[in-house]
Amino acid sequence: MNKKVAIIPGSFDPITLGHIDIIERCSKIFDEVIIAILINPDKKYFFTVKERVEMTQEIIDSLDKIDNVRVDSFSGLLVSYAKKTGSNIIVRGLRAVSDFEYEMQLTSMNKSLDEEIETFYMMTNTKYSFISSSIIKGVSGFGADLTKFVPNIVAKRLEEKLKEV
Ligand code: PNS
Repeated sequence: MNKKVAIIPGSFDPITLGHIDIIERCSKIFDEVIIAILINPDKKYFFTVKERVEMTQEIIDSLDKIDNVRVDSFSGLLVSYAKKTGSNIIVRGLRAVSDFEYEMQLTSMNKSLDEEIETFYMMTNTKYSFISSSIIKGVSGFGADLTKFVPNIVAKRLEEKLKEV
């Protein structure tokens, strides 16, 4: 039987506990999981792609029982990346109804570009449903305890990065 390889694509700028919850749950369902971090030269990120990949890799290495998860980066179309890796499965987390419209566009566009691609949605654990990378960046730098929302490594890097800018 073919191995079921799932891609979890995103900006991961930075990775949050909500992302990690989805990654851990996916790793129990699929044979292999690829965390695919987007490189988009037209978008301004807080962390460079190198930093996003390194941070994510460090977190994955620190977690138990997820040996089937690997971290990668990609540019261009997600469907082309999926084809290159031999996967036709995309997994996205869904937090609230407000996510739905964008996710529907994304899924429909990917399906139009490659009809073999299937996108699966996983409801984010309710305790993380209000967390996004953007909202975390918005509260960082003001002394709030970020470890409730992001792994310790990310909280530390956010503080360090804010000192640099
Ligand atoms: O974490 P994000 O920013 O919500 O992730 C968005 C992502 C990376 C899944 C999406 O922007 C993407 O797939 N970009 C690659 C370009 C592409 O394939 N676009 C067509 C689908 S909209």
